[in-house]
Amino acid sequence: MKITITKNEATFDLTAAWRIIGQILAKPEAVIGLSTGKTTLGMHRLVSEIYGRYPFDTSKVTIFNVDELTNIDRENPASCYTMIREQIVHPLQIPECNFIMPPTYSDDFEKECRLFESELEKRGGIDLQMLGIGWNGHIGINQPGTPFEQETWISVLDEKLDERLHREQNLPPEHKIGGFTLGPKNLMQVKKVILIAKGAEKAPVIKDALFGPITPAIPASILQLHPNCEILLDTEAASEILDSI
Ligand code: GLP
Repeated sequence: MKITITKNEATFDLTAAWRIIGQILAKPEAVIGLSTGKTTLGMHRLVSEIYGRYPFDTSKVTIFNVDELTNIDRENPASCYTMIREQIVHPLQIPECNFIMPPTYSDDFEKECRLFESELEKRGGIDLQMLGIGWNGHIGINQPGTPFEQETWISVLDEKLDERLHREQNLPPEHKIGGFTLGPKNLMQVKKVILIAKGAEKAPVIKDALFGPITPAIPASILQLHPNCEILLDTEAASEILDSI
């Protein structure tokens, strides 16, 4: 694992933005997976600002998000579809046909999972995955306990996110929101993974994921075995590993 520590949030966002742009410049037909959340908002904004200033060819790149909520409308601002469409796909003028996302409602999600994988496979597999990490070590929506061999599936949200979404969306507790997500096995097959974390609240889980045992209890720990994985952190997220590197 290569660990890159940036000195503050601004350099974190800029470094991450250039990783995405660099992948598109190196391979215009690249297949790139993104993540939503607080961590990626700033970097996505910069990608679109840089594109606005120095346009590059985005006609062949494929964009998808590592995960998606189920049982809420795609047009809902909380869906990953809407977030990535607004943050990246529209600002970069990426053709809609190259924006690959699963549906948020389906009678047969098992089929949708296999379809999603085969769509990415048809395009040559995933070149780059920008991957967030949750406070409990989840990657995508693979919560602690997910088997490392798990492929794309419908998982459950962590309790903090589930509680927040129900509150913000005014949903009754019996309304179940699921998590469509690439599994750890898919993530291990990505050509390059960049695990991204910023802020002090991620410092303990970063230490566990990078220097603790490789265990399904911390899903991100599997990345210790990934052949091409970079860990991109700001100083705060790196604050508990400085003695170990
Ligand atoms: C959610 C998303 C993940 C993301 C994680 C971290 O669980 N499904 O893909 O990596 O949150 O989010 P944040 O960057 O807001 O901490």
